[in-house]
Amino acid sequence: MASSTLVTPSPSRSIFKTVLWIFLGLTALFVFITSEVLLVTDYPMYHAYRLQVIADRHLLIPHTFCGVIALLAGPLQFSSRLRQRHLKFHRVLGRIYVVCVFIGAFTGIALAAGRPGLPGTSMQAAAWIVCTTAAFVTARNRQIVQHRQWMVRSYAVTFTFVSSRVLNLWPRYWSHLGDTFSAVGVIAFTLASLLIVDLGLNWRQLTSRRA
Ligand code: HEM
Repeated sequence: MASSTLVTPSPSRSIFKTVLWIFLGLTALFVFITSEVLLVTDYPMYHAYRLQVIADRHLLIPHTFCGVIALLAGPLQFSSRLRQRHLKFHRVLGRIYVVCVFIGAFTGIALAAGRPGLPGTSMQAAAWIVCTTAAFVTARNRQIVQHRQWMVRSYAVTFTFVSSRVLNLWPRYWSHLGDTFSAVGVIAFTLASLLIVDLGLNWRQLTSRRA
Protein backbone atom coordinates (compact mmCIF):
# COMPACT_ATOMS: atom_id res chain seq x y z
CA MET A 1 0.00 0.00 0.00
CA ALA A 2 1.26 3.51 -0.78
CA SER A 3 2.60 5.32 2.24
CA SER A 4 0.96 8.71 1.84
CA THR A 5 -2.19 8.36 -0.27
CA LEU A 6 -5.30 6.26 0.13
CA VAL A 7 -6.14 3.57 -2.40
CA THR A 8 -9.69 3.89 -3.83
CA PRO A 9 -11.69 1.02 -2.27
CA SER A 10 -12.33 -1.82 -4.74
CA PRO A 11 -15.90 -3.31 -4.96
CA SER A 12 -14.74 -6.48 -3.15
CA ARG A 13 -13.27 -4.36 -0.33
CA SER A 14 -16.53 -2.40 -0.02
CA ILE A 15 -18.49 -5.68 0.26
CA PHE A 16 -16.01 -6.92 2.88
CA LYS A 17 -16.43 -3.67 4.87
CA THR A 18 -20.24 -3.92 4.74
CA VAL A 19 -20.26 -7.58 5.86
CA LEU A 20 -17.77 -6.78 8.65
CA TRP A 21 -19.87 -3.86 9.97
CA ILE A 22 -23.05 -5.98 9.91
CA PHE A 23 -21.22 -8.72 11.85
CA LEU A 24 -19.82 -6.21 14.41
CA GLY A 25 -23.26 -4.59 14.76
CA LEU A 26 -25.02 -7.91 15.40
CA THR A 27 -22.32 -8.92 17.91
CA ALA A 28 -22.74 -5.58 19.74
CA LEU A 29 -26.54 -6.09 19.78
CA PHE A 30 -26.10 -9.63 21.18
CA VAL A 31 -23.81 -8.32 23.96
CA PHE A 32 -26.13 -5.39 24.70
CA ILE A 33 -29.01 -7.84 25.28
CA THR A 34 -27.12 -10.63 27.06
CA SER A 35 -25.02 -8.35 29.28
CA GLU A 36 -26.51 -4.88 29.68
CA VAL A 37 -30.27 -5.60 29.42
CA LEU A 38 -29.94 -8.62 31.75
CA LEU A 39 -27.84 -6.55 34.15
CA VAL A 40 -30.54 -3.86 34.30
CA THR A 41 -33.31 -6.45 34.77
CA ASP A 42 -31.39 -8.11 37.66
CA TYR A 43 -30.63 -11.47 36.04
CA PRO A 44 -29.73 -13.71 39.04
CA MET A 45 -26.20 -14.59 37.83
CA TYR A 46 -25.31 -10.89 37.55
CA HIS A 47 -26.86 -9.86 40.91
CA ALA A 48 -23.61 -9.31 42.85
CA TYR A 49 -22.05 -7.45 39.91
CA ARG A 50 -25.22 -5.33 39.62
CA LEU A 51 -24.75 -4.11 43.21
CA GLN A 52 -21.15 -3.18 42.37
CA VAL A 53 -22.26 -1.33 39.22
CA ILE A 54 -24.85 0.64 41.26
CA ALA A 55 -22.17 1.57 43.83
CA ASP A 56 -19.83 2.69 40.99
CA ARG A 57 -22.50 4.72 39.18
CA HIS A 58 -20.75 8.12 39.55
CA LEU A 59 -17.80 6.85 37.49
CA LEU A 60 -19.82 4.47 35.32
CA ILE A 61 -22.19 7.13 33.95
CA PRO A 62 -19.44 9.25 32.28
CA HIS A 63 -17.53 6.05 31.41
CA THR A 64 -20.52 4.45 29.66
CA PHE A 65 -21.59 7.71 27.97
CA CYS A 66 -18.11 8.23 26.47
CA GLY A 67 -17.69 4.52 25.63
CA VAL A 68 -21.01 4.41 23.76
CA ILE A 69 -20.13 7.55 21.74
CA ALA A 70 -16.73 6.01 20.85
CA LEU A 71 -18.43 2.75 19.85
CA LEU A 72 -21.08 4.48 17.70
CA ALA A 73 -18.57 6.86 16.09
CA GLY A 74 -16.74 3.92 14.46
CA PRO A 75 -19.10 3.08 11.58
CA LEU A 76 -19.52 6.80 10.79
CA GLN A 77 -15.80 7.61 10.90
CA PHE A 78 -14.79 4.59 8.77
CA SER A 79 -17.41 5.33 6.08
CA SER A 80 -15.45 6.49 3.00
CA ARG A 81 -18.60 8.08 1.53
CA LEU A 82 -19.39 10.14 4.62
CA ARG A 83 -15.76 11.23 4.96
CA GLN A 84 -15.55 12.36 1.33
CA ARG A 85 -18.86 14.25 1.45
CA HIS A 86 -18.66 15.72 4.97
CA LEU A 87 -15.03 16.16 5.93
CA LYS A 88 -15.86 18.81 8.55
CA PHE A 89 -18.24 16.39 10.32
CA HIS A 90 -15.50 13.72 10.22
CA ARG A 91 -13.04 16.13 11.89
CA VAL A 92 -15.49 17.22 14.60
CA LEU A 93 -16.59 13.66 15.40
CA GLY A 94 -12.94 12.57 15.36
CA ARG A 95 -12.09 15.11 18.08
CA ILE A 96 -15.14 14.04 20.10
CA TYR A 97 -13.93 10.40 19.74
CA VAL A 98 -10.46 11.34 21.07
CA VAL A 99 -11.92 13.16 24.10
CA CYS A 100 -14.30 10.24 24.77
CA VAL A 101 -11.46 7.70 24.62
CA PHE A 102 -9.41 9.69 27.16
CA ILE A 103 -12.38 10.08 29.54
CA GLY A 104 -13.39 6.41 29.00
CA ALA A 105 -9.83 5.19 29.65
CA PHE A 106 -9.24 7.23 32.82
CA THR A 107 -12.67 6.44 34.29
CA GLY A 108 -11.98 2.77 33.39
CA ILE A 109 -8.74 2.85 35.42
CA ALA A 110 -10.53 4.59 38.30
CA LEU A 111 -13.25 1.88 38.22
CA ALA A 112 -10.64 -0.88 38.42
CA ALA A 113 -8.57 0.82 41.15
CA GLY A 114 -8.07 -1.48 44.15
CA ARG A 115 -9.46 -4.52 42.28
CA PRO A 116 -7.71 -7.54 40.73
CA GLY A 117 -8.59 -6.23 37.26
CA LEU A 118 -6.38 -3.12 37.59
CA PRO A 119 -3.28 -4.41 35.70
CA GLY A 120 -5.42 -5.64 32.78
CA THR A 121 -7.54 -2.49 32.65
CA SER A 122 -4.43 -0.26 32.84
CA MET A 123 -2.85 -2.09 29.91
CA GLN A 124 -6.12 -1.86 27.95
CA ALA A 125 -6.43 1.86 28.75
CA ALA A 126 -2.78 2.46 27.75
CA ALA A 127 -3.32 0.69 24.40
CA TRP A 128 -6.52 2.73 23.86
CA ILE A 129 -4.76 6.04 24.57
CA VAL A 130 -1.58 5.25 22.57
CA CYS A 131 -3.47 4.09 19.44
CA THR A 132 -5.91 7.02 19.59
CA THR A 133 -3.16 9.61 20.17
CA ALA A 134 -1.15 8.16 17.26
CA ALA A 135 -4.30 8.35 15.08
CA PHE A 136 -4.85 12.00 16.07
CA VAL A 137 -1.19 13.00 15.53
CA THR A 138 -0.99 11.29 12.10
CA ALA A 139 -4.23 13.06 11.07
CA ARG A 140 -2.75 16.42 12.11
CA ASN A 141 0.40 15.54 10.11
CA ARG A 142 -1.75 14.64 7.07
CA GLN A 143 -0.34 11.07 7.09
CA ILE A 144 -3.71 9.69 6.05
CA VAL A 145 -2.79 6.03 5.45
CA GLN A 146 -1.15 5.80 8.87
CA HIS A 147 -4.05 7.76 10.41
CA ARG A 148 -6.52 5.17 9.11
CA GLN A 149 -4.36 2.28 10.36
CA TRP A 150 -4.06 3.77 13.87
CA MET A 151 -7.80 4.43 13.94
CA VAL A 152 -8.46 0.78 13.07
CA ARG A 153 -6.20 -0.24 16.00
CA SER A 154 -7.87 2.30 18.30
CA TYR A 155 -11.35 1.04 17.36
CA ALA A 156 -10.22 -2.56 17.88
CA VAL A 157 -9.49 -1.60 21.51
CA THR A 158 -12.84 0.24 21.75
CA PHE A 159 -14.53 -2.95 20.52
CA THR A 160 -12.95 -5.10 23.28
CA PHE A 161 -15.89 -3.83 25.38
CA VAL A 162 -18.08 -6.03 23.14
CA SER A 163 -15.72 -8.94 22.39
CA SER A 164 -14.80 -9.47 26.06
CA ARG A 165 -18.51 -9.83 26.95
CA VAL A 166 -19.58 -12.26 24.20
CA LEU A 167 -19.17 -15.25 26.55
CA ASN A 168 -20.75 -13.57 29.61
CA LEU A 169 -23.87 -15.79 29.64
CA TRP A 170 -21.73 -18.92 29.96
CA PRO A 171 -21.68 -19.44 33.76
CA ARG A 172 -18.18 -20.99 33.87
CA TYR A 173 -16.76 -17.93 32.07
CA TRP A 174 -18.74 -15.45 34.16
CA SER A 175 -17.94 -17.05 37.52
CA HIS A 176 -14.23 -16.53 36.88
CA LEU A 177 -14.62 -12.78 36.28
CA GLY A 178 -13.34 -10.65 39.14
CA ASP A 179 -10.28 -12.77 39.98
CA THR A 180 -6.83 -12.85 38.39
CA PHE A 181 -8.30 -14.52 35.29
CA SER A 182 -10.18 -11.33 34.48
CA ALA A 183 -6.94 -9.28 34.40
CA VAL A 184 -5.27 -11.83 32.13
CA GLY A 185 -8.43 -12.08 30.02
CA VAL A 186 -8.59 -8.32 29.38
CA ILE A 187 -4.91 -8.27 28.34
CA ALA A 188 -5.45 -11.30 26.07
CA PHE A 189 -8.53 -9.73 24.41
CA THR A 190 -6.68 -6.43 23.82
CA LEU A 191 -3.57 -8.13 22.43
CA ALA A 192 -5.61 -10.50 20.22
CA SER A 193 -7.71 -7.60 18.86
CA LEU A 194 -4.59 -5.61 17.95
CA LEU A 195 -2.91 -8.64 16.32
CA ILE A 196 -6.03 -9.52 14.30
CA VAL A 197 -6.42 -5.99 12.91
CA ASP A 198 -2.71 -5.79 12.09
CA LEU A 199 -2.91 -9.07 10.20
CA GLY A 200 -5.91 -7.57 8.34
CA LEU A 201 -4.07 -4.32 7.61
CA ASN A 202 -1.13 -6.27 6.15
CA TRP A 203 -3.24 -8.95 4.44
CA ARG A 204 -2.20 -8.00 0.91
CA GLN A 205 1.51 -8.02 1.79
CA LEU A 206 1.11 -11.33 3.60
CA THR A 207 -0.70 -13.07 0.76
CA SER A 208 1.06 -11.77 -2.37
CA ARG A 209 4.68 -11.58 -3.48
CA ARG A 210 6.10 -8.27 -4.77
CA ALA A 211 6.81 -8.32 -8.56
C1 HEM B 1 -16.97 0.92 23.79
C2 HEM B 1 -16.37 1.26 24.86
C3 HEM B 1 -16.90 0.99 26.26
C4 HEM B 1 -18.18 1.05 26.76
C5 HEM B 1 -19.46 1.36 26.01
C6 HEM B 1 -18.10 0.70 28.16
C7 HEM B 1 -19.17 0.62 29.03
C8 HEM B 1 -19.13 0.01 30.27
C9 HEM B 1 -20.26 -0.40 31.05
C10 HEM B 1 -21.74 -0.22 30.63
C11 HEM B 1 -19.82 -0.96 32.18
C12 HEM B 1 -20.68 -1.55 33.34
C13 HEM B 1 -21.49 -2.73 32.90
C14 HEM B 1 -20.69 -3.86 32.32
O1 HEM B 1 -19.61 -4.21 32.85
O2 HEM B 1 -21.12 -4.41 31.31
C15 HEM B 1 -18.37 -0.90 32.13
C16 HEM B 1 -17.53 -1.34 33.12
C17 HEM B 1 -16.17 -1.19 33.11
N1 HEM B 1 -15.39 -0.74 32.07
FE1 HEM B 1 -16.07 -0.10 30.31
N2 HEM B 1 -16.79 0.47 28.47
C18 HEM B 1 -16.03 0.61 27.33
C19 HEM B 1 -14.66 0.42 27.19
C20 HEM B 1 -13.80 0.21 28.26
C21 HEM B 1 -12.35 0.20 28.17
C22 HEM B 1 -11.54 0.34 26.88
C23 HEM B 1 -11.89 0.02 29.42
C24 HEM B 1 -10.46 0.02 29.85
C25 HEM B 1 -9.83 1.12 30.03
C26 HEM B 1 -13.02 -0.12 30.32
C27 HEM B 1 -12.98 -0.36 31.69
C28 HEM B 1 -14.08 -0.74 32.47
C29 HEM B 1 -13.99 -1.20 33.83
C30 HEM B 1 -12.74 -1.37 34.66
C31 HEM B 1 -15.31 -1.49 34.23
C32 HEM B 1 -15.76 -2.03 35.59
C33 HEM B 1 -15.62 -3.54 35.53
C34 HEM B 1 -15.83 -4.16 36.88
O3 HEM B 1 -16.28 -3.46 37.78
O4 HEM B 1 -15.52 -5.36 37.00
N3 HEM B 1 -14.17 0.00 29.57
N4 HEM B 1 -17.97 -0.31 30.95
